[in-house]
Amino acid sequence: MPPEGISDLEIEIDWVALRAAADEAARHAYAPYSRLQVGAAGLADDGRLVVGCNVENASYGLTLCAECGLVSALAASGGGTLVALSVTAGDGRPLAPCGRCRQLLLEHGGENLAVDWGPDAPPRTIGELLPGAFGAGELSDRRKAT
Ligand code: THU
Repeated sequence: MPPEGISDLEIEIDWVALRAAADEAARHAYAPYSRLQVGAAGLADDGRLVVGCNVENASYGLTLCAECGLVSALAASGGGTLVALSVTAGDGRPLAPCGRCRQLLLEHGGENLAVDWGPDAPPRTIGELLPGAFGAGELSDRRKAT
């Protein structure tokens, strides 16, 4: 049985192909400082494949994670919602998205976004990877009335 939140659509995802696309994106990473070349590949709800790679900076804190590039590519190519994601370090093995990127992915994939956890484990959902998250609902419900 797939974990809760992984829909029938999502379990038909070709994770091997998605992982390979992440590996290919990782080849284009600009990571002269950490030398960790990261690639991310995602499937949008209309079937579009979007990818991103990390882009570092001499001012370390300005580094862009691969998932940031992927989300930008999603928006620039028409928007929509991510349904599946694989992040690798170019070695065919999934890399866990960092905390900041989990928040970013929640916004653009929703809590049911399926995240590659490798060939020997079922995908995890972002809801599972970022429990109790802050989201847009907090803004609409709790901001100060004008
Ligand atoms: N990195 C990503 O691209 N995504 C993550 O989710 C984790 C970390 C990158 C940022 C930096 O260029 C390198 O990996 C080392 O932290």
